[in-house]
Amino acid sequence: MNGPQGVQGTGQQSGTGVIAWIDRRLHVVRWFRAEYVDYRMPRNLNGLWNFGAILCVVLVLMLATGIFLAMNYTPAATGAFASIEVIERQVPAGWLLRALHMTGASLFMGALYVHLYRGLYYGSYKAPREILWLTGLVLLVMTMVTAFAGYVLPWGQMSYWGADVVGKAVGAIPGLGPALEHVMEGSDALGDVFIHRFFVLHFVMAFAIVGIVGLHVAALHISGSNNPLGVEPAKPSDTVPFHPYYSSKDMVGLVLFGIVFAALAFLWPDLLSEPANYRPANPLHTPTDIEPEWYFLPFYGILQSVPSKFLGLVASAGAVLVLFAVPWLDPSPVRSVRFRPVCRIALWGLVVAFVLLGLVGRHHAAGAWMIAGRCATLYYFGYFLVLLPFAPRFEKTRPLPSSLS
Ligand code: HEM
Repeated sequence: MNGPQGVQGTGQQSGTGVIAWIDRRLHVVRWFRAEYVDYRMPRNLNGLWNFGAILCVVLVLMLATGIFLAMNYTPAATGAFASIEVIERQVPAGWLLRALHMTGASLFMGALYVHLYRGLYYGSYKAPREILWLTGLVLLVMTMVTAFAGYVLPWGQMSYWGADVVGKAVGAIPGLGPALEHVMEGSDALGDVFIHRFFVLHFVMAFAIVGIVGLHVAALHISGSNNPLGVEPAKPSDTVPFHPYYSSKDMVGLVLFGIVFAALAFLWPDLLSEPANYRPANPLHTPTDIEPEWYFLPFYGILQSVPSKFLGLVASAGAVLVLFAVPWLDPSPVRSVRFRPVCRIALWGLVVAFVLLGLVGRHHAAGAWMIAGRCATLYYFGYFLVLLPFAPRFEKTRPLPSSLS
């Protein structure tokens, strides 16, 4: 794969060592050199371009810790909660595995939102990067499913009642709903079959994500990276090789992220989790507040703000689905909102609406929260379905630079 930004160094590998022997037959070394050493990147990438590498590293950590957790986990209604307690208290370093896996899940979702917002901000979804964007969104959906399936596994109160809410929401889909609910739950009561299915789903999906990440990065290396100016590199001095420039910059990003990660995992391991999930699932006792993990709260806020259960589900799923259409909803030739004064402000408004929806999800949409939830939902969809398509008709864009340097 030779990116448009000019890959060099793909020539024959000479030498007599084992590596050179393998490379003459499998081309792995020259491939690695072309894609991760000599690969040319725009010279002006900022710290937001570190998040792809951060996501890759956290993904590996999630798989590694997940495999060891799975070795000690019991996927059954009677044993799941107790097996988590055993991991926390008796398995050597089990508490560490769990702290890393739980903190990793939260930070992975957080990093995913930053990564996605970076794409919206700098117009990285526009041609020729549509497939890159779409594979990213497939990863978002797969990660959401994996995170939800994982949250069910400890079989605490929130696992059980969260699964109950989602099962009923799926069941509310006209026509297919009840059948889907049955496939998901496996029997009339949430229990062994359900946990077993979600354990397999969690495990399989996590590895499938790795495959799609490969596709995502392959798509990236074909189109090349976008950059904060949203202008394609025009001359050789507009780009620098990945190594040592961005390999070192990614290391700095990873160390800073690692500090935040370590602080959360070691000093505040329970900050991002729900205390109610430390009580075993009890089908006879509904908690007063059923709420998902923080990263699902904005979607839960939309679900609650819409009066009908089914339409709430449509709006909530639509909030993710609309992102798939963004490359075709935005006809402006200017990528980066740095040069689009109206869209820039409106995009920050989208962050406010998203956070507000999260608060609505947390406080339950009633009274003033209901009004706020409805306004934020309208704003969210208004941004994508009204502003993006029509902005080029009235927005006066700023002049674009002719090169990155
Ligand atoms: C498992 C999750 C994901 C992983 C591991 C991942 C990985 C990466 C990596 C390594 C890069 C190159 C470095 C960078 O530009 O930051 C990248 C770029 C990119 N990703 Fe992702 N990604 C994921 C999810 C997503 C999602 C949810 C989206 C949004 C739809 C997305 C959209 C993009 C785009 C548009 C680029 C190119 C950005 C540019 O050059 O301006 N990715 N991704």
